[in-house]
Amino acid sequence: MLIALGVTGGIGAYKAVEVARGLQKRGHDVVAVMTHSATRFVGAVTFEAITRRHVITDQFEMGMNADIEHIALASTIDLLLIAPATANIIAKLAHGIADDFLSTLYTATRAPLLLAPAMNTQMLEHEAVRANLNTLAARGARFVDPGEGYLACGWIGKGRLAEPDEIVAAAEAILRPEGPLRGQRVLVTAGPTYEDVDPVRFIGNRSSGRMGYAIAAEAARRGAEVTLVTGPTTIEAPAVRQIVKVRSAAQMHEAVMSRAGDMQVVVMAAAVADYSPAARAEQKVAKDGDTLTLLLRKTPDILGELGQRRVAKGGGPLLVGFAAETEDVVAHAMAKRERKHADLIVANDVSRSDAGFDVDSNAVTIVGAEGADALPLQSKSRVASEILTRVERLLTARAVKV
Ligand code: CTP
Repeated sequence: MLIALGVTGGIGAYKAVEVARGLQKRGHDVVAVMTHSATRFVGAVTFEAITRRHVITDQFEMGMNADIEHIALASTIDLLLIAPATANIIAKLAHGIADDFLSTLYTATRAPLLLAPAMNTQMLEHEAVRANLNTLAARGARFVDPGEGYLACGWIGKGRLAEPDEIVAAAEAILRPEGPLRGQRVLVTAGPTYEDVDPVRFIGNRSSGRMGYAIAAEAARRGAEVTLVTGPTTIEAPAVRQIVKVRSAAQMHEAVMSRAGDMQVVVMAAAVADYSPAARAEQKVAKDGDTLTLLLRKTPDILGELGQRRVAKGGGPLLVGFAAETEDVVAHAMAKRERKHADLIVANDVSRSDAGFDVDSNAVTIVGAEGADALPLQSKSRVASEILTRVERLLTARAVKV
């Protein structure tokens, strides 16, 4: 989701950098909006480097008015978070004064407002400040308490800005209603594997990693603690809890099997090589003769082993596999689901040029215990959302059963 992070001129402004990072780690997009006085505490360039977005510091900056940015931004953000919020911005918001970008953004947006006030204790206790906070609270604003609590016992805290973790958690609570994936540990594999033939050659495949990366990003957005095990790709990694880079099927096998015991969900979106050179040549293989024979050996079937392990133990993570097919897509996927003891198989018709490998869209059929569900061609992030909605349903059903 898109969050406008307003930063105003208080000593706690440096902590807002950590807030931006924390929000990004949870899969959110952050655009920083700094007041003039905030820039005296932290440089805009710091936020720019973290958010990888232009930082708004001035209402009348050149280029800012071409698309009336405060209106454009106001209608696209999911949350306006101000941390730290000084007595000055609190007063301006309470009274509808719009004399800089941040205060104007507030009056122009319908997104929820979350404030993390920070100021000296005397100021915090002042009648005027308390009245302004009450006005904003009555209007629906939410707060992250500084010190010891506004709601429970009045403004008796020290006024120090709340810790970044608390602020991120408060933002999450507003943005994300409790969903079944929240706090669940999810492992996603993505990308191809490269099986080395010699020091310069390998056997690979056309997987870009996009589908797996979209699932990892969407799971993080739904509050899951995501571990992404990825083969070699060139696309940008999503903000998730942990990224484990691997190259070969054997490395992916090790990375997944050693972690799967701790997971509630494993999604095998990687295009794992089924065969690998029986031996990797130490030196570059020289040209010799008209034909060359490579001896390949079957790689361990990671999803299959996870399924076996689950059957043997009578429990384990929910398993989602992918099936790249070129014919009889649904029948093959159904057989694969049974064979590998997976909960869901996402079947991909890779013979289509507008879906599957190395494109942004995908048309899949999701096969589960109840049958097959063919989804229309759509973006990989929407497909990821459809898959995870079904995973959430299964998690809920499991919880009910227990
Ligand atoms: N997979 C795996 N380990 C492997 C190969 C594949 O975990 N060594 C996973 C893939 O990540 C995918 C699923 O298994 O989720 C299906 O892969 P696929 O190669 O299509 O399945 P196979 O059972 O090998 O069937 P086929 O005979 O069609 O190749």
